[in-house]
Amino acid sequence: MPLHKIIHINENTTAYFWHITEDVTSLFRAVSLRDTSLFRLEGMKSEEHQRGFLAVRMLLQHLGYTDYDLTYDEAGKPHLSDGKHISISHSHEFSCICISTELMGIDIEKLKEKTLKIAPRFLEIKHLENLSTPDKIAKATVIWGVKESIFKIKNEVGISFPEHIFEDEFNLIDGKCSAILQFNNQIEKFKIHFYNVEAYIFVCAFPKK
Ligand SMILES: CC(C)(COP(=O)(O)OP(=O)(O)OC[C@H]1O[C@@H](n2cnc3c(N)ncnc32)[C@H](O)[C@@H]1OP(=O)(O)O)[C@@H](O)C(=O)NCCC(=O)NCCS
Repeated sequence: MPLHKIIHINENTTAYFWHITEDVTSLFRAVSLRDTSLFRLEGMKSEEHQRGFLAVRMLLQHLGYTDYDLTYDEAGKPHLSDGKHISISHSHEFSCICISTELMGIDIEKLKEKTLKIAPRFLEIKHLENLSTPDKIAKATVIWGVKESIFKIKNEVGISFPEHIFEDEFNLIDGKCSAILQFNNQIEKFKIHFYNVEAYIFVCAFPKK
């Protein structure tokens, strides 16, 4: 399946989604990879991970980039050769990349009951009060995505989701929320956009200016 969806988050920022229906061999034949990527691909234990990784390269190629335009820093954060910001996420049959002239972080996460089960470990449980079970799952998944996205922006060792990132109260219907990071004696604010993409939640976070 080719490109599945494009979301224009703001005038500087666009997210692209690949619905992965191809097998590893077809994806592998369709992309060209630098040696370090080949090495990484060979080391991946699951085919799902390999397909997610290759689908990111399909998205890059769709946009006129190749794997040669993508590098990673020591922490694993991706960077594009033309200086634009990129953030990457994959979950089961979806891979997505977001490209922007602004700093941002993204996360895509499948809606599943397990996220609700582990919710007390990473969110304020009062934020799930008075919701139906499907809405509780959706809200917990958004909050998880918020924390992953902020982590990807900051890319700093030692950030803990429950201890340092706090979501403000929000309604699912709004598609927007905010959060703060309290880390290293500093408080930083973030604005968040979130979307339903099939049976997934997609989150994009930006530092507040
Ligand atoms: C790095 C991390 C954010 C990746 O998230 P994930 O849900 O496992 O996977 P995703 O598919 O959403 O994202 C993976 C992509 O994130 C990007 N990434 C990895 N490390 C990154 C970093 N330090 N900064 C920014 N982006 C990073 C990569 O592009 C990677 O994909 P690729 O290697 O195939 O290009 C996550 O594993 C992590 O370390 N989280 C913080 C630790 C933590 O506090 N966890 C929970 C505690 S309750």
